Amino acid sequence: MSKSDMKIITVVGSGLIGRSWAMVFASGGYSVNVYDNQPGQSAKAITEIRKQLKELEEAHMLRGALTASQQIALLSSYDDLAQALEGAFFIQECVFERLEVKQSIFQDVERLVGQDVVLSSSTSALVPSSVFSKVQNKSRCLVSHPVNPPYYVKLVELVPHPETAMAVMNATHALMTKVGQAPVLLKKEIDGFAVNRVQAAIIAESWRLVQDGVISVKDIDLVMSEGLGMRYAFIGPMETMHLNAPEGLEDYMRRYGDGITRLLNSFGPVPEFRGEGAKSVMNEMYELIPGDESHLSARMERRDQLLMRLAELKKDHQ
Ligand SMILES: NC(=O)c1ccc[n+]([C@@H]2O[C@H](COP(=O)([O-])OP(=O)(O)OC[C@H]3O[C@@H](n4cnc5c(N)ncnc54)[C@H](O)[C@@H]3O)[C@@H](O)[C@H]2O)c1
Ligand SMILES: *[C@@H]1O[C@H](CO)[C@@H](O)[C@H](O)[C@H]1NC(C)=O
Ligand SMILES: *[C@@H]1O[C@H](CO)[C@@H](O)[C@H](O)[C@H]1NC(C)=O
Repeated sequence: MSKSDMKIITVVGSGLIGRSWAMVFASGGYSVNVYDNQPGQSAKAITEIRKQLKELEEAHMLRGALTASQQIALLSSYDDLAQALEGAFFIQECVFERLEVKQSIFQDVERLVGQDVVLSSSTSALVPSSVFSKVQNKSRCLVSHPVNPPYYVKLVELVPHPETAMAVMNATHALMTKVGQAPVLLKKEIDGFAVNRVQAAIIAESWRLVQDGVISVKDIDLVMSEGLGMRYAFIGPMETMHLNAPEGLEDYMRRYGDGITRLLNSFGPVPEFRGEGAKSVMNEMYELIPGDESHLSARMERRDQLLMRLAELKKDHQ
């Protein structure tokens, strides 16, 4: 990343995630060129961001050292890819989660930028060796997978292609840290990366306990939100174990290792998530929170408000 003066980042795709990335990068003082292949879409996205930044400023929740107006001044919209890429040192792709769309956009981008420009994808579920299979120089390619909503949930998984240069991983780690995200480095690619693999394990056992009639949907969510989640917002499962025995992790495993192994061996196969076997779980959830627009959006609003306050709390308690 030595191109030009490293001031411009291009965001390709201006949907939910593209808009969030644009806000994150602008909060770090970068000029952000937002491109979308739907004519007028990127301009609409910036109008929406402008509104959000003003609201965040009023709520004293704006990120970064700049005012909302200063951040808004850093954003430009483009309907033309070549123009949007002009002068950029870092490209964050946020188009539809379809392999052929991503492959094709990176082919176009590679043709239009210099060799030292970093190509980064927001993909949640595609591995770098698929996403970048049509790029010639893969040493400057990686996945930077955010968690929704990235403005409040700061984790970004950095996942290398087998050919990605360590310097590119390091530079991206530094960039993400600089704009206030919390990057983690995967040493090699794997389906689901780390976040979705851990999440799948939690989903599987939660689902199974409800399906087997052990606990209700409502109560299994409380197991996380009022129990495990209280710690996990500040210390992860590894440190949790380390702190839960007088002599640390080794001691913990001496005391509890066999028990954990016994439980894991009782977990059973992957539960049925759809069809007849899933019906009772579904019904319970829809009874708690009906699946119509107004109920769901009210709960989403609540979630985002609470995440915002948690992010605020975490700022002072790293
Ligand atoms: N939504 C999430 O929770 C989440 C979380 C992490 C990662 N992601 C990943 O981020 C990416 C974007 O997801 P999203 O939720 O923002 O999707 P979205 O549907 O909201 O937005 C996609 C945008 O890309 C544009 N687009 C499509 N093809 C394009 C092309 N060829 N060139 C330029 N623009 C194009 C569309 O017009 C649209 O504006 C996906 O890969 C997704 O897996 C999403
Ligand atoms: C490939 O990209 C790397 C990293 O940006 C760069 O240093 C190298 O010169 C490029 N290779 C070629 C053949 O252009
Ligand atoms: C990347 O960062 C690590 C840890 O900071 C460091 O040891 C390594 O030398 C760096 N590698 C490159 C190529 O920059």
